[in-house]
Amino acid sequence: MKLLVTGGAGFIGSNFIHYILSEHPNCEITNLDKLTYAGNLENLRDIENDPRYHFVIGDIADRELINNLLHGGYDTIVNFAAESHVDRSILDATPFIETNIKGTQTLLEGARQYRVGRFIQVSTDEVYGSIQNGKFTEKSPLSPNSPYAASKAAADLLCHAYWKTYQLPVIITRCSNNLGPFQFPEKLIPLAITKAWENKPIPIYGDGLNVRDWIYVADHCRALNLAIQRGKPGEIYNVAANQEKMNLELIHQLLDIMGKPRSLVSFVADRPGHDRRYALDAGKITQALGWKPFYSFEQALAATVDWYLNHEPWWRKIKSGEYAKYYDKMYSQR
Ligand code: NAD
Ligand code: TYD
Repeated sequence: MKLLVTGGAGFIGSNFIHYILSEHPNCEITNLDKLTYAGNLENLRDIENDPRYHFVIGDIADRELINNLLHGGYDTIVNFAAESHVDRSILDATPFIETNIKGTQTLLEGARQYRVGRFIQVSTDEVYGSIQNGKFTEKSPLSPNSPYAASKAAADLLCHAYWKTYQLPVIITRCSNNLGPFQFPEKLIPLAITKAWENKPIPIYGDGLNVRDWIYVADHCRALNLAIQRGKPGEIYNVAANQEKMNLELIHQLLDIMGKPRSLVSFVADRPGHDRRYALDAGKITQALGWKPFYSFEQALAATVDWYLNHEPWWRKIKSGEYAKYYDKMYSQR
């Protein structure tokens, strides 16, 4: 298996590369990443000298670079590369359009020209929008509410169009909120762990009653591997572990694990357009590909807390760098 993984130095992509190297002894992986604020080669330090792994710095929207790379012959592309943070998309949607839409289309076009055998688009539950009751299936209409979600929905539609028009073998996976090692510490769970560790207030948007459906990143990686091996071209697969939590409930649970007081919760102004609830029906991938999650939310949260507490230098370096200034700017505008 010769894979081009994009965005592999971010959270899920780096977990996925570790997973594939351990599952497929004969694989070959090229990781193409622009190394934005979210890309971090420390995430792959342990495998950087593995002869099956190569790193290329670059932009998925750079057509010449993509064509040069694909000329080398790949059987599979897994596209993780994205601007991924809703709060950043509210401040400035432009890079989301460039990477998530134009970048995806550049990759699709390259895959078409160089006849790549499989294209996995790593998408999100956020393309469906918010749901009050019940769960979204793959047939639910797209109704994205943030610039991030809209850019991911546009990319999904382009994937669909390349399948219908050119029969490019595209598979779209739509996963719920991930937790686990290597997540950039401005997303809710690593933010809360690192703040709590320093006994600093944890910002909770609005009333804290928004619901997210959480999955351990390793379970997501297994689902992606199955989609590569057995997924049907042109299909969409929801991926979720059926573990809904209100933000406030989640943070209380996390503080309890860490032995920190609940008084660290600090309610702050709500996120504009904040989706109230995400919930996915993942019955299709279970039925069609035999996937099911291995990790309960409690196991995943405990493992994630443990990882952050054992990797303090990893997050300290990020939190003391350029990102710190950005974070202050982002929240001073609320
Ligand atoms: P992340 O922000 O941690 O990582 C994104 C990676 O993409 C970074 O390494 C960054 O440098 C790279 N990148 C950004 N722009 C690029 C460009 N133009 N060219 C090349 N590389 C570029 O994101 P993540 O949380 O790991 O998410 C990965 C993918 O999974 C995204 O497509 C996201 O939409 C999707 N997803 C994430 C979640 C979640 O809970 N985190 C859930 C469902 C789906
Ligand atoms: P986030 O990790 O940004 O993921 P997403 O918005 O893509 O689901 O946020 C998860 C939930 O936590 C979401 O409802 C917003 C909320 N949230 C806070 O309450 N405070 C925070 O500081 C952050 C980053 C998020």
